[in-house]
Amino acid sequence: MTGSLSRRDVIWNFSRVMGLAGAYAAMEALGFVGDAGAYSGPPAAPSSLGAGRRVVILGAGIAGLVSAWELKKAGYSVTVLEARNRPGGRVWTVRRDSILEHDHLPAQRCQFSPGHYFNAGAARIPAVHTGILSYCREFGVALEPHVNESGSSKFVSSSVRNGQPLPHRQVVNDIRGGVSELLAKAVGRGALDGEMTAEDKDRLLSFLNIYGALGNGGTYEGSNRSGYDLEPTILNAPSKVRAPIPLSELIGDPTIAFNLMFGQTMFQQATMMQPVGGMDTIPYAFAARMRRDIRYGVQVSHLTRSEEGVRVLFDQKDGTGGAIEADYCICTLPFSVLRHINTTLSAPVKAGIASFDYDAAGKVAWQSKRFWETDDHIYGGLSYVDTDSNLAWYPSQDFHAPEGVLVGTYNFVGQAETFAGMSLQDQFAASRASVEKIHPGKSVQLQRPVAVNWGRVPYTMGAWAHEAFGGPPVDHDTPEVRAVQAGDGPIVFAGQHLSPIGAWMEAAVRTAHNAVGQIHERTRAN
Ligand code: ALA
Repeated sequence: MTGSLSRRDVIWNFSRVMGLAGAYAAMEALGFVGDAGAYSGPPAAPSSLGAGRRVVILGAGIAGLVSAWELKKAGYSVTVLEARNRPGGRVWTVRRDSILEHDHLPAQRCQFSPGHYFNAGAARIPAVHTGILSYCREFGVALEPHVNESGSSKFVSSSVRNGQPLPHRQVVNDIRGGVSELLAKAVGRGALDGEMTAEDKDRLLSFLNIYGALGNGGTYEGSNRSGYDLEPTILNAPSKVRAPIPLSELIGDPTIAFNLMFGQTMFQQATMMQPVGGMDTIPYAFAARMRRDIRYGVQVSHLTRSEEGVRVLFDQKDGTGGAIEADYCICTLPFSVLRHINTTLSAPVKAGIASFDYDAAGKVAWQSKRFWETDDHIYGGLSYVDTDSNLAWYPSQDFHAPEGVLVGTYNFVGQAETFAGMSLQDQFAASRASVEKIHPGKSVQLQRPVAVNWGRVPYTMGAWAHEAFGGPPVDHDTPEVRAVQAGDGPIVFAGQHLSPIGAWMEAAVRTAHNAVGQIHERTRAN
């Protein structure tokens, strides 16, 4: 597969992928998003506000669970309808015997040994996502660091050192050294005299000496930041700093800037976190407190306004159906799913729902001996590789355990759509081949693979709403989207897709709070 990807494909895929960080960076620079907005908690309401009012909530992902939890606190009676037999939606931890279903592939039963797991969807929480972190605090969900960047992880590109796996530390520091040297030369030659005072030029040169680890002549000749060819041991034994890779070669890979800066984007910066034992600890913490309020295995077929409020018709897995009447509805279904359900929503709201595109993303995970730790000293973080698997992602937990789960593939948009078009065996083979490029000779250790192609997972049908990732930001300031945001009478909407935060649990939390506030407003107005 890799060989069949043209450079144009790679650049195209990459430019789409760049949205993961690049769109944020661009939007941050333009002031569209900074952080997720100062967190003031859920909308305030007296605990009796919702007394006697019923709310039906569609979907037990984070948006549905947060909505239900906050409405219950305000005295409403809630029923959450969830098509799956578990809470969490895309916040899903795969373990032994988990079943992975797609609409186009045979079902997989995870064969990991007991104790191993893989966060198939949400897998990391940034420190600035105060909403979801506040629920972790409220429920006592234990958190541990999630290593998002490692100096030892690898960068593999056929255009740099002929595809030799290079440590992240070398790539990032040789680029910094090379760029600093060029800038120092430009300053030295007076190329920036029009922009800078003599004093600022001196200051910049001093800065670049340290920033770029430049030698006395203002040239970059390598630095121990990049690692050693011969590592230091004891006094008077030889050691040798690694020779630098020329800048012109490093920038020959079009993905390099994105990959190096990925961990610097606001939502990927240290400190990242993960719940101990799996991301699904979070949805299960909500669900454990609302056992009587959530109905699983219930697939919504109709969402209609009624005289009293709303009526929801549903089908159950045993072939029976049913109906629920409520005063209000919070619909958190992804619009990729909602658009296939019969509704009496207004034409503008329907048009708004139709206007959202969804992106594909996929992961392949393997149980394996921890060769990345024992042989390459990689403890968490991501390696980047120019294959259709895109990267390898190492576990942040249980360091030095004999085995762990390695994510050998995490791809996005066009790359993920093509990948999803392959058989499971071909997906596994491609993932193994990709890991082999990063860790030559080691992929033989990879066992018990599972693949998730989010664009083809029933009840989700998309990794995330396209608005947040990939390409130029979509203009959502349209009458149709504003109609969705306003809600249709007693029906209001929440979910990741309705936030510019993007594919993060925080987006679900913030939109749930907004929807809960809309329900409170309607209650107060009646
Ligand atoms: N938030 C998701 C990630 O970090 C998309 O990969």
